[in-house]
Amino acid sequence: MQASDTPAAGAPDARPFLFSGIQPSGDVHIGNYCGAIRNWVHLLDRYRSIYCIVDYHAMTSEYDPAIMQERIFQAAVANIAAGLDPERCWLFVQSQIPEHTELAWILNTITPMGLLGRMTQFKEKSRRQEENINVGLFSYPVLQAADILLYRAEAVPVGEDQVQHIEFTRDLARKFNLRFEPLFPEPEAIVPKSGARILGLDGKAKMSKSLGNHVGLLESPEQIWEKLRPAVTDENRKRRSDPGNPLICNIYTIHECFSPPELQEEVATGCREAGIGCIDCKKKLFEQMMRTLDPIRERAESLRAAPDEVRGFLEQSALECRRMATATMGEVRRRTGLR
Ligand code: TYM
Repeated sequence: MQASDTPAAGAPDARPFLFSGIQPSGDVHIGNYCGAIRNWVHLLDRYRSIYCIVDYHAMTSEYDPAIMQERIFQAAVANIAAGLDPERCWLFVQSQIPEHTELAWILNTITPMGLLGRMTQFKEKSRRQEENINVGLFSYPVLQAADILLYRAEAVPVGEDQVQHIEFTRDLARKFNLRFEPLFPEPEAIVPKSGARILGLDGKAKMSKSLGNHVGLLESPEQIWEKLRPAVTDENRKRRSDPGNPLICNIYTIHECFSPPELQEEVATGCREAGIGCIDCKKKLFEQMMRTLDPIRERAESLRAAPDEVRGFLEQSALECRRMATATMGEVRRRTGLR
């Protein structure tokens, strides 16, 4: 997509910018899909949409450099297959645009340490990776703010876990605008009504690429059923004859993303009245998931067979987005007294 592309030929594109990102830290999973990617696809027409594979962010947790490029490629494949249409958005790799780290540095200088110390994700990850609490992990939200502000994006579609980082970005935008000449809009988080927080199959922690509790978006139907069948539901429902509570069942939450409203209603009532068992409920979910995931998996197969196309899209996007990034940095440099 060209920066000058217009929704109707001839008219200037007045749509606001949208930005969001995903880490290449493992398989893209159905949590990413329900919480973010599904919304990204819905919003393609309403915004000039910029998506980013955030490799610099992925470096803040343990990773293997030898497979970084493969993970980036697979993340691109999964996102394009899920609906990020190259004709309607940009998708690039963060480290291809050095202005991200340049702006992050400048934002570092207006970020109070205390604000970063309060970030829930920093606290959680510090507990999980005690051996590797690096400075990058601490200032992670500053780089995230730079990602968004570099494109002066007004909307940031994310899952629930990222909302605090978007609030933080708004704070930084406000601080910058007050300290220097105003430049940045305060971006809004867009969080889906359902699927904003999908738990892992253990029903405990959030589904996550690094915790091994996920269902991969591109896994085979057999693999998915193997994982779904034993997944935790409402733990108070011990026997088939016990009534269950869909509101505390992770499987029901996933139904809300993949099943039509009538089926959601049917399984919710069936669960409350002990009319259906958890396995039946999972079978119905599996069927619905396959309706969405089969075509995504098929598209991914074709994309994998055409790696040059995928890489071409990433490179072209980086080229076009870098122009926007450079323009913003010119404004930032002028305002902050740099040359
Ligand atoms: P990441 O890679 O962890 O996740 C990508 C997107 O998926 C959402 N998500 C979930 N939603 C529902 N349930 C889950 N279990 C679940 N797990 C993940 C996330 O909320 C996210 O929207 N810091 C970001 C990446 C980032 C970014 C940005 C996002 C870097 N710069 C700028 C927005 C704007 C992250 O780690 O996402």
